[in-house]
Amino acid sequence: MKEIGIGLIGYKFMGKAHSHAYRDAGLFFDLPAVPVMKVLCGRSEQPLKAAAEKLGWQEHETDWRNVVGRKDIDIVDISTPQNIHRDIAVEAAKEGKTVLCEKPLASTLKDAYEMVEAAEKHGVKHAVCFNYRKLPAVGLAKNLIKDGKLGKIYHMRAVYLQDWIIDPEFPLVWRLQKSVAGSGAHGDLNAHIIDMARYLVGEFEEVAGVCETFIKKRPLVKETGLLETGIEDKKKSAETGDVTVDDAALFLARFKNGALGSFEATRFAAGRKNGLKFEINGSKGSIVFNLENLNELDVYSTEDPEYARGFKTVIATDPSHPYAANWWPAGHIIGYGESFINLVSDLLTAVSKGEYPSPDFYDGLKCQEVLSAVEESAESGKWVKVKE
Ligand SMILES: NC(=O)c1ccc[n+]([C@@H]2O[C@H](COP(=O)([O-])OP(=O)(O)OC[C@H]3O[C@@H](n4cnc5c(N)ncnc54)[C@H](O)[C@@H]3O)[C@@H](O)[C@H]2O)c1
Repeated sequence: MKEIGIGLIGYKFMGKAHSHAYRDAGLFFDLPAVPVMKVLCGRSEQPLKAAAEKLGWQEHETDWRNVVGRKDIDIVDISTPQNIHRDIAVEAAKEGKTVLCEKPLASTLKDAYEMVEAAEKHGVKHAVCFNYRKLPAVGLAKNLIKDGKLGKIYHMRAVYLQDWIIDPEFPLVWRLQKSVAGSGAHGDLNAHIIDMARYLVGEFEEVAGVCETFIKKRPLVKETGLLETGIEDKKKSAETGDVTVDDAALFLARFKNGALGSFEATRFAAGRKNGLKFEINGSKGSIVFNLENLNELDVYSTEDPEYARGFKTVIATDPSHPYAANWWPAGHIIGYGESFINLVSDLLTAVSKGEYPSPDFYDGLKCQEVLSAVEESAESGKWVKVKE
């Protein structure tokens, strides 16, 4: 059977999620080619070596430049902070590799354009890791909308709520530094719900946003990285540094199809750990998704007989639901990690058949254009058109 060589850059949170996906995709999907976990890359030899052994990689490498040019690598997977997405993607494209990049595509709009340009110039395939698209319940939402079951869409309201930096003593990790992350809750969390909106409702026309940094200084930390040793276990210093990203970013939106949207991303919603929720209302019904119950989609239809109308909960584990036939018998639920397996199996299938994976860098760029328009609006206090 054909083999696809993988080089993965980054070995912590997403490094683990992606390793899990490459390891297990073949257990659930009839892949046309076998992913071979060739090389894992990070910066520090010791923890990297341990991670490579634990996660099942053949080799490890401390310089990503030595990964992207290797002849035995077909897919370069970028699971690092945003500040180096561009450099790795551009070099990988020059080497003719397929590139999978984590979201947000880049830390700036300029970098995102350069990534798309490089991929186009070198004719390589590209994908962006908007993994929530790959959940069966989200696929069901897509199918209901596509089949006209919601009618004309009027509203999308979406929130992505976390609380991991609510303690002012939580240190200044890379996610709180603009030079590395590009933005805070905005690029990290809004990126996902913007992508959900583009996937389910359509393209954005204009936005009006507000961003806030509640805690402006935090203790410095020597090692950066959210889940490096566990959020609680940071090595804090007595010195403090400036938080240079937003803690929360909210915006209103008009879609090109006339629908209205409201979006909220925050890391200050006490008690909310990873609370992505959205509701979409159309002329014939509504749907509600909550990531904390990711197998479920609540559906309301005006086409139900009047006496039986009300929200019903569909458990998206039936073989008729997207991806579900590859998993367990109906009613046997899946979890967060499985979204990455679904995404990686789509990618491997597309690459081995010479097809284009989805979502791709164009989706990453469109998302970045919305992120950027919201930032511009938050600064100017005015509505801002999203670039075409
Ligand atoms: N799809 C999702 O749901 C999701 C969830 C979390 C994070 N992300 C994205 O994934 C990316 C990584 O986030 P994370 O949570 O895994 O971060 P992390 O801090 O847990 O891990 C970052 C990894 O990148 C490596 N790295 C950093 N700079 C490097 C360099 N110059 N060369 C080689 N390796 C380098 C680090 O060693 C580490 O292994 C970010 O873009 C983030 O936005 C996506």
